[in-house]
Amino acid sequence: MNTHASWPVAELHVHIEGTLETELLVTLARRNGVELPSYDPDALRELYRFTDLQSFLDIYYANLAVLRTEADFYDLGIAYLTRATAAGVRRAEIFFDPQTHLANGIPLDVVFAGLTRALTEARATLGISADLILCFLRHLGGAAALETLDAAIPYLDQFIGVGLDSAEVGFPPSLFTEVFAKAGALGLHRVAHAGEEGGPDYVHEALDLLGVERVDHGIRAIEDPHLIEHLRERQIPLTVCPLSNVCLRAVPELGVHPLPAMLAEGLLVTISSDDPAYFGGYVDDNLNAVQNEFALSPLQMATLARNSFRASFLPEAEKLRQI
Ligand code: HPA
Ligand code: ZN
Repeated sequence: MNTHASWPVAELHVHIEGTLETELLVTLARRNGVELPSYDPDALRELYRFTDLQSFLDIYYANLAVLRTEADFYDLGIAYLTRATAAGVRRAEIFFDPQTHLANGIPLDVVFAGLTRALTEARATLGISADLILCFLRHLGGAAALETLDAAIPYLDQFIGVGLDSAEVGFPPSLFTEVFAKAGALGLHRVAHAGEEGGPDYVHEALDLLGVERVDHGIRAIEDPHLIEHLRERQIPLTVCPLSNVCLRAVPELGVHPLPAMLAEGLLVTISSDDPAYFGGYVDDNLNAVQNEFALSPLQMATLARNSFRASFLPEAEKLRQI
């Protein structure tokens, strides 16, 4: 059954680097003379067997060595936006990890130029609304994040917010209070991954210390009744990525995912794909999977779709038009 396909949604949790399909990976590796373990897209996909977040991040960061030029970033961006439009995405708020590319010797100028060209073209030709959210890599620490934000100030018109991703446990939100305060003062939106592998205390910290408007993943919030109450009362959105959670073993299997409990608690839950090239599905596949697994009603599916626009950073008038 594929009843969701006609429902327009906003995708609020997708890493552009995680949309690098193995076919494009091979094309870019050949174009730039970068070595890969194989040049067969299917064989490369076979390597995507993860045991936890870090086992995924190791392969994900290694693959990103193929991204070298403005055209590479454009190709990556336009491929995602084209696929997302086909999946029903009408609004995309897209993460990117500038520190990974800087470490590979790629200047910010190249990254922004390619991604912004893709977004501008997609708005015009596909009619999709899309913006970028700059993520800090938590394993590199707070000082590196501050340096990255300072370096990105000349490009403030090309991204709408900041996020926090990479290895969670051991790198709590409290390490990033200064950079998030600065981002807030610059008028940027603030989100953070929390409660994916880290416990509910990481979600508390992201809310209290970083002032985030949305929590990415947040599935472990379900373990803390006080936190649930807080999230429900303030209707703080949680961008849940079910296929990602299964692939990275944040949950043992889809059947025991806390999504139904989160919905039953009245939380503002949205569904996204996270890193679709690695986790076996785009947002439509994620919606389809949870609909089938939990026999969600048309009303529940419509709630998920409506939540995605409510939780987006679209202007209020535009949200109402979409809902
Ligand atoms: N968690 C943390 N960092 C990430 C993820 C994720 O799911 N995807 C890409 N970077
Ligand atoms: Zn993510």
